[in-house]
Amino acid sequence: MKAEDLSRVLTLIRNHQARVGVVGLGYVGLPFALEAAQAGFQVTGIERNPARVAMVNRGENYIDDIREEDLQAAVQAGQLRAQVSFDGVEELDVVVIAVPTPLTRHLTPDLQYIVGVTEALSEHVRPGQLISLESTTYPGTTEEVMKPILEKSGLKAEEDFFLAHSPERVDPGNKRWKTKNTTKVVGGVGPRSLEVAQAFYGQIIEKVVPVSSAKAAELVKVFENTFRAVNIALVNEMALLCDRMGLDVWEVLDAAFTKPFGIMPFYPGPGVGGHCIPLDPHYLEWKAREYNFFTHFITLAGEINRKMPEFVREKAYRLLNQMGKAPSQSKVLLLGLAYKNDISDWRESPALEVAHLLQADGVEVHYHDPYIPDAQQAGLNLQSEPLNTALLEAMDLVIITTAHQTVDYAFVVKHARRVLDTRNATHGLKSDKVVLL
Ligand SMILES: NC(=O)c1ccc[n+]([C@@H]2O[C@H](COP(=O)([O-])OP(=O)(O)OC[C@H]3O[C@@H](n4cnc5c(N)ncnc54)[C@H](O)[C@@H]3O)[C@@H](O)[C@H]2O)c1
Repeated sequence: MKAEDLSRVLTLIRNHQARVGVVGLGYVGLPFALEAAQAGFQVTGIERNPARVAMVNRGENYIDDIREEDLQAAVQAGQLRAQVSFDGVEELDVVVIAVPTPLTRHLTPDLQYIVGVTEALSEHVRPGQLISLESTTYPGTTEEVMKPILEKSGLKAEEDFFLAHSPERVDPGNKRWKTKNTTKVVGGVGPRSLEVAQAFYGQIIEKVVPVSSAKAAELVKVFENTFRAVNIALVNEMALLCDRMGLDVWEVLDAAFTKPFGIMPFYPGPGVGGHCIPLDPHYLEWKAREYNFFTHFITLAGEINRKMPEFVREKAYRLLNQMGKAPSQSKVLLLGLAYKNDISDWRESPALEVAHLLQADGVEVHYHDPYIPDAQQAGLNLQSEPLNTALLEAMDLVIITTAHQTVDYAFVVKHARRVLDTRNATHGLKSDKVVLL
């Protein structure tokens, strides 16, 4: 490594003159690209979806957490632009990767997006460039998968270019914690990579925490999501037990969470959804096997959480039975398709699983979701119906699957025949019509 390559990139970063690329302009990539542009960097988004590229270049937003006027301002000021191809990537000083990390059908890591992008980058990597992976993945991806591909270029990590992992922690829909004020963890494949990555993220994110390796940074993120998956499974199991015992799990949990120490709130629901909690722990589970290690908590949590939609079906059928209704002659409204409140992301949403389970038994399923007008893309041949008296009165049962805050739950309870509330969205509304999860 020429000392001037290291000091040159550090100076460019500190002066905000480094040219930044962000590969993958989705829930993670676009907010980060905008944040980097607002910090004063010249940002190029590389996105394989041409419709998204065209929207970004017109300053049109498609991600819930971004304010369109901010995107427009960055585009108009020439700070942010997007393109489909990797042309000109060698001109960039920093390349951040935020592409999907799904699971295969057999719940094993599917690295096709990371590998595809890394192969494309290997044709453009140049001395002094920093490449940072933000996608959530198992410990070892950056060093064991990306590094050898990039080194096919003839350049060596640490000696010629810098390679780091900095997991993204964004929580879509969270009004308080955004990309900028959420502490960012950074690990490099060596000390130089860490130094450059830390300098870069320090210009954009309020607080950056270095760890000793890219592997450690990768494990930090999968541990965080495993922590959530396990704790959600624990309260889901409590919900199953409370159902048997005839106790209200919400009352028990709310009382438990008044303890000011040694506990933290997690709530049950119809299952877990989104692109993180249901998937990421399985990345770790898979990698652990290489070390002849079995991550029992992950397996158990996955099993409990994946069974919750079936429990919702069982509880719904109990209610329909009390009304003298066979499922195959019933109409059920699912209130909320998104995997969590106040966002439009339906990926892995347990509400979809509930819909499929009910439809398989011949239930006539309807839905209302203010954020998802059409469910074709989500694999349901349905459209959101207006939430009015006629709809509610026509349904045998309303199942609240997502607690969007814009829905008037008092109105729902008033006009519905029966409500199965899997989110405690009707909290405070006293009615015999409502049954909680
Ligand atoms: N969504 C979240 O809340 C969240 C939070 C933290 C971490 N993550 C992680 O961040 C990563 C990205 O997640 P996301 O939710 O932003 O995904 P996303 O699907 O919203 O966005 C990914 C984008 O990458 C693009 N893409 C795919 N392959 C490409 C390629 N070869 N070249 C250019 N663009 C390509 C896709 O078209 C898409 O626009 C995942 O690893 C995820 O687990 C997500």
